Amino acid sequence: MKAQKAVLKSIDWKGDKLSLLDQRKIPVAKEFIDCKTLDDVIFCIKSMVVRGAPAIAMTGIFGLVLELKNTKEKLVYEKFLRRTRALLDSRPTAVNLRLAIEDYLKLISEKAYIANPLPELIKLSEKYALSMLEEDLKWNLAIGKNGVDLFSKKQKEISILTHCNTGALATAGHGTAIGIIRSLRDAGYKVTVYADETRPYQQGSRLTAWEMQEEKIPCYIVAEGMSAWLFQNRKIDAVIVGADRIAPNGDTANKIGTYALAIVAKENKIPFYVAATKTSFDFSLKDGSQIPIEMRDEEELTQNSFLKDTSGNSYLPKGILSPIKSHALNPAFDVTPSKYISGIVTELGVIQPVNKREIKRVVG
Ligand code: MRU
Repeated sequence: MKAQKAVLKSIDWKGDKLSLLDQRKIPVAKEFIDCKTLDDVIFCIKSMVVRGAPAIAMTGIFGLVLELKNTKEKLVYEKFLRRTRALLDSRPTAVNLRLAIEDYLKLISEKAYIANPLPELIKLSEKYALSMLEEDLKWNLAIGKNGVDLFSKKQKEISILTHCNTGALATAGHGTAIGIIRSLRDAGYKVTVYADETRPYQQGSRLTAWEMQEEKIPCYIVAEGMSAWLFQNRKIDAVIVGADRIAPNGDTANKIGTYALAIVAKENKIPFYVAATKTSFDFSLKDGSQIPIEMRDEEELTQNSFLKDTSGNSYLPKGILSPIKSHALNPAFDVTPSKYISGIVTELGVIQPVNKREIKRVVG
């Protein structure tokens, strides 16, 4: 019998608690944190135990299941709505969490709440949260397939630069931009990945490089700001990144550093693709200038504070950044104007060219 490859499950629902792979510790340790309450879940989202727009949304909905499960007396709907708003505030840029909460509240509406006893609401909520995991994996596989079609069948070797982490850690599995990389490998291409470091949280050099190592996909970590050199000195076939929020005109918010990468890619005539599910589109906006950008703690830059546990022990070797008494700016995301984006790969098809009409046609 062929050995089954273990699937990385970073969000694991145990029925009475949610187990989350602690992404702050990867690749040094593979440890899970158990969430038993909505507050535990909010802590894990804020502190980036769990991160990546789809993973945040799915985790958040499991948090609401826990909120219902922990309701001892009668559920007060107004209070429950207040709790959903606290969850929503945990990380403001990715739209996935907001859309998931809105969709979930159609199911657990005030009407449903009046008509159903609490155990029934819990059952409905649990089913909804589990279906999100299933659906996300299905969508990512479809993105992967659509992404493979962007490349010539004749080409045997493909080199891709990616930013941040959009893999199994950030989704229910497979991934979006990294999903395309996995699908290219599965389709028989020899893929080489360049993982942009992604400062300050180092999602590229810690998380993407780790996922590639686990998958045995050849990967080079490249330092932030190295892309211009890379495009001049290596054959890069495409840049593929994820998204946290896409405006109706295609302007895309993603991890800080994406915009600079897109400009350099265009200047060097390298195709720049965004890979995302329909749940990354925010049709309530006019354009990318309306996307709220999360400003994070300046200590993430000056002291690597996010890589310390509660006792102050660092997960990384000492000396990577020395503690310094300076202010730092730490916007977590930037917005890439649509003119720099060659195509948006979704589970429903590829949006190319990137404009309002095409976006409406494919995902609207
Ligand atoms: O701050 P993070 O790590 O949550 O930022 C993640 C990203 O920017 C990803 O590219 C995006 O969420 C898509 S993940 C499929």
